[in-house]
Amino acid sequence: MAHQSDMIRSDIYAYLKSQEEKGMLRFITCGSVDDGKSTLIGRLLWDSKMIFEDQLAALEADSKRIGTQSGAIDYALLLDGLQAEREQGITIDVAYRYFSTDKRKFIVADTPGHEQYTRNMVTGASTASVAVILIDARKGVLTQTRRHSFLVSLVGIRHVVLAINKMDLVEYTASRFHAIREEYEAFAKELSFSEVVAIPISALQGDNVLLHSDSMPWYHGPTLMEYLETIDVCDESVSKPFRMPIQWVSRPNLDFRGFCGTIASGSIRPGDQVVVAGSGITSKVARIVTMGSDLEHGQAGQSITLTMEDEIDISRGDLLSDPQSRPNCADQFEAHIVWMHEEPLLPGRSYLLKNGTSTLQVQVSSLKHKINVNTLQREPGKTLALNEIGVCNLALAKPIAVDPYRENRATGSFILIDRLTYATVGAGMIDFALRRATNIHWHQSQVSPKVRAGLKDQHPCVIWLTGLSGSGKSTIASALEQRLCEMGKHTMLLDGDNIRHGLNKDLGFTDVDRVENIRRIGEVAKLMVDAGLIVIAAFISPYRAEREMVRGLLSDESFFEIYVNTPLQECERRDAKGLYKKARSGQLPNFTGISSPYEEPTVPALRIDTSKTGVDQAVCLITDLCIKH
Ligand code: ADX
Repeated sequence: MAHQSDMIRSDIYAYLKSQEEKGMLRFITCGSVDDGKSTLIGRLLWDSKMIFEDQLAALEADSKRIGTQSGAIDYALLLDGLQAEREQGITIDVAYRYFSTDKRKFIVADTPGHEQYTRNMVTGASTASVAVILIDARKGVLTQTRRHSFLVSLVGIRHVVLAINKMDLVEYTASRFHAIREEYEAFAKELSFSEVVAIPISALQGDNVLLHSDSMPWYHGPTLMEYLETIDVCDESVSKPFRMPIQWVSRPNLDFRGFCGTIASGSIRPGDQVVVAGSGITSKVARIVTMGSDLEHGQAGQSITLTMEDEIDISRGDLLSDPQSRPNCADQFEAHIVWMHEEPLLPGRSYLLKNGTSTLQVQVSSLKHKINVNTLQREPGKTLALNEIGVCNLALAKPIAVDPYRENRATGSFILIDRLTYATVGAGMIDFALRRATNIHWHQSQVSPKVRAGLKDQHPCVIWLTGLSGSGKSTIASALEQRLCEMGKHTMLLDGDNIRHGLNKDLGFTDVDRVENIRRIGEVAKLMVDAGLIVIAAFISPYRAEREMVRGLLSDESFFEIYVNTPLQECERRDAKGLYKKARSGQLPNFTGISSPYEEPTVPALRIDTSKTGVDQAVCLITDLCIKH
């Protein structure tokens, strides 16, 4: 490797040790191809000589073949690792580059600048401490500069370098540099940066990148590399209150019980008091155990095992904290969410929220507003599409211990996960805990669901009929209820059209409304099961996620998913309400099966195709399966 250090040859151990002890800085570069971002990173790698010999050879060859510098070295080519990127001339993913100088090691997140890659930029920025925002000196502050700055501020980066590039193309004039700096500073006042340092550079010529430029004697500040090498950011997470999410509890034998995890913020010593944030139980740290010997001191970023002086109950997902500065425990909070998936965010749908080491069920209870990333204006909205950002209220299944993101990036952030596919669909930053639920407690009633069911002498359950409009759900449901009444069972029939006359008359047929429709019906059905009833629910309920949500509210023995799988052709032939005709002619939007999807159940308790099975037979099949005598 063409590396700067001779120590590699002379004393490899000394070299490795010096590398190990060097501080690390993570930064992100923001800008587009045209701003010279790839050229800048290429130059940093080149000048710090972190390039393999074979990469050097390839770079020289590529510069001649597809370079943009008339055969001279095109630094940008070093960065564009993917063939597709090279040919289109854009960067499409997050690439992390590593390089080091005598003073520091660096990880630079290189992300695409276009709006359709907002999620990539948020991902790249989320672990960075410094952002280098590139500006083309000829163009000045652009819409994308504002967008990048907003995203960088959103993910909690406090130090910004405004790298005003291509100074060679504006004759290295100080006035141009100062005008851009002033315009940017005026805009950045609204963002929560603690420092903005403007540096005039030419990535192509190397001016003020590593070495001071002779062409800009009027500039007396640091070069980009000097700034990156000296900026003090390491202590940020260490100076915060102690937080350690518990990854697992180690019990190799009866005499040892250790709590393992990575310190998210702050530091700890044996003898320090800690509190389990959720339960409020406190104890003192007895030992800090690591792979080798015990430590006298542990700090943010270190993976350790703690033992306690008392036998206290701590388990995976708990957050050990500083008792003097506790996190919030809440089951509802407001957060900024960046949506990262093609399927939009649907308020009311249940997702998984992962924060630290705990994962639990969550619903976005309301989308308060979206943020236009270009104008930073608030906009109304019902859903968040890919790359959109919104301010939402979230409701969790149980309280968790969290901090506002601006106070602690580690304990204030979370990701949202799809419950069925386990794909990461969103990233969130907590604004504050909502206090509204703190005065509400669950009252244990004297009469339990079991007693109520006993009085009725039946096993309450939900018989959930799902399928296309016209598949025969309502017909089966009604005959089933009649049959159960004859058997002396206490029932309640919930049917799509009827519920939409009352409880859900405010809802239409958009995705968001359908999700909310089923959420409310699920909650009502659960209450009725607690009341001891056998509930027959007949709804198209086209989405798997919501049917699973209802299943999750009930026990396995009290939820039966019956898929009325009459083929679309047959439903359309029947067209009892004339809706298919309307939908086909374009008069009825979002019609299930025609212009809105239906997600089939994967493992229903029963499938009934009413073009082959008569109503009486269907009723027999269902009663045999669901009704315990
Ligand atoms: S669901 O999709 O939200 O579960 P639900 O079962 O409550 O739907 O209501 C479906 C009934 O509403 C249908 O049987 C039909 O009579 C009527 N309807 C009116 N417009 C639509 C539409 N766009 N899509 C489906 N059903 C519709």
